[in-house]
Amino acid sequence: MIEILKFNDATEVAEAAADAFVHTLVQLLAEKAEINISVTGGSLGIKTLAAIAEHRDLSSIDFQRVRVWWGDERFVTRESEDRNFNQAFEALFSKVPEAKLHPMPAAKAGLTLQAATEEFAQVVAEHSVDGFIPFDLTLLGMGPDGHIASLFPGKPPVEAGVSVLFEDDSPKPPAQRISFSYEAINHSSEIWFLVAGADKALPVSIATSTDSEKVPAGRVSGIKKTVWFLDQTAASKLS
Ligand code: 6PG
Repeated sequence: MIEILKFNDATEVAEAAADAFVHTLVQLLAEKAEINISVTGGSLGIKTLAAIAEHRDLSSIDFQRVRVWWGDERFVTRESEDRNFNQAFEALFSKVPEAKLHPMPAAKAGLTLQAATEEFAQVVAEHSVDGFIPFDLTLLGMGPDGHIASLFPGKPPVEAGVSVLFEDDSPKPPAQRISFSYEAINHSSEIWFLVAGADKALPVSIATSTDSEKVPAGRVSGIKKTVWFLDQTAASKLS
């Protein structure tokens, strides 16, 4: 099932997604002992995490039972402001220290991108069911080229069964990144796209059309539900 929700601007998108996030997590935790969520970097992803931190009902989420993953990570040093984990920690997770965080590795001397990816794949394997994390909810931003996480257009197909991969020539800096694969993201019960800006209108219209496979964002969908949180400019090419 696809749902498209339209809002006036990026701030309204972040607030609506934050509200839905809080209520969805409360509901999921009433049904399950533990849940897995995947969050995203990018400006709107971080704005949404900051809005979640400010939500009046934040304390009704039992974060002790929430495992948090990142859809992708920039392969930069632990201290780098570019690190998705650091941005997310500052926006939200520093305020809910009981959450179980599973950041992707940071760059350090002697650790290659490939070795870091393999190291993280081990962590994923420990928490997987049949090789994949059963994500209850995945948040994704989308670039103007339709990329999601660090899955960019024009890249070679990924071998089936692979959950985590690396990208060493990302068109969006920094060039080196670690990412969950399409197949891994497709193991999400719900996927929510958080998208604002006129430069995203074309990929939004493709990803939600019958030609969806032409852009990375159109190659993933939630098992139960896919929701697009859009501002009016990102939604402007939808009929
Ligand atoms: C990253 C992200 C990336 C991001 C999109 C959208 O590490 O850069 O995970 O996939 O979500 O590029 O970013 P904006 O919301 O800033 O446009």
